Amino acid sequence: MSNEEAEIKEKTRVILEGIGSKRENLIPILQKIQEELGYLPPYAMLEVARFLNIPDIDVYSVATFYNQFRLTPPGKHSIRVCMGTACHVKGGYITLAAWQRRLKIGPGETSPDREFDLDIVACVGCCAMAPVSVVDKKVEGKANPTRVDGILLSYQLQKEQEEKEKN
Ligand code: FES
Repeated sequence: MSNEEAEIKEKTRVILEGIGSKRENLIPILQKIQEELGYLPPYAMLEVARFLNIPDIDVYSVATFYNQFRLTPPGKHSIRVCMGTACHVKGGYITLAAWQRRLKIGPGETSPDREFDLDIVACVGCCAMAPVSVVDKKVEGKANPTRVDGILLSYQLQKEQEEKEKN
């Protein structure tokens, strides 16, 4: 067993402690694992199948059926572009296109350097600031393509600074 496998299985066992091993608990269990680990690693799903005493494929089917579950590790930063009505009307799709072009990924994807996740969300309740993007936990209002460039530039500068400090 690799270190990674052992580590994920151990973390999963801790998460499963105190949860009943009934099949109805499958979805809440997967939600809890995702909350703790950020995604559903294959080793965690195998551990869940063993715990609930059901076939691996049943766990995998549920995990792939619901799009609330992610099967790959999340990027370091999350970009969520609001596509609610107000944001759409104010050009949310232009903002989304700007993120897609700059990051070279589509919604639901993670950049190859694992720095950013891009997702679409429904109204986040800040319509007066439309078009809105939520960057990590910060709401960015009037997020037009120029703002998108500015946000990415500040992350790039921050990353360069961190690298400098490491060396
Ligand atoms: S529609 Fe985007 S914040 Fe409401």
